[in-house]
Amino acid sequence: MVWGITGSGDRINEILETMIQLKEQDGLKISVIVSKAGEQVFRWYKLWGRLKASFDKISTETNANVPFIAGPLQIGKYDLLFVAPLTGNSTAKIAHGIADTLITNAVAQTLKGSTPVYVYPVDQSKNPVETMGPDGIKFTIRPRSIELENVDRLRSMNGVTVLSNPSEILDVIRKKLEST
Ligand SMILES: Cc1cc2nc3c(=O)[nH]c(=O)nc-3n(C[C@H](O)[C@H](O)[C@H](O)COP(=O)(O)O)c2cc1C
Repeated sequence: MVWGITGSGDRINEILETMIQLKEQDGLKISVIVSKAGEQVFRWYKLWGRLKASFDKISTETNANVPFIAGPLQIGKYDLLFVAPLTGNSTAKIAHGIADTLITNAVAQTLKGSTPVYVYPVDQSKNPVETMGPDGIKFTIRPRSIELENVDRLRSMNGVTVLSNPSEILDVIRKKLEST
């Protein structure tokens, strides 16, 4: 499977630990693709080293088509594209059919084929959410209505499954890959 990472600090630790669990306990082969902001945010949170040490195949975005992952995804070379965390920015782009970055292009082209796309957008709660900055300081995020509307658009998009919480990731991926 391909795992896409965009530039979100929210739930970043939990998502990385889930990825590692899927690789180490379930033996999943995971190719990781990371947006430019994704690498930047992982570095800010001092998690880039752990990500690099945990996965053999990690490619950071040069542009929408480099590294070239959209083609192999579109023709079914992978069984699943999973994107977590998905920023408000990439959620908005995908919701409106924009494909001008590595991850949004991967999603758009995958959906034109028959490989399923799963995403966990961070900004999807109507209630304030407590999160932690790179310095360990807690603060509150209040997603705007535009972000909630964009997540709703993704929920109604053919071929896309939107997860509500990172705690669902393990079960959802295990069930999906068992059935393929
Ligand atoms: C330390 C840090 C944390 C961030 N956390 C978030 C976040 O939790 N959610 C979000 O939507 N954007 C977050 N951003 C902003 C995104 O990285 C920014 O919108 C970027 O353009 C996203 O690009 P991408 O969607 O291609 O990864 C964060 C940025 C920084 C520097």
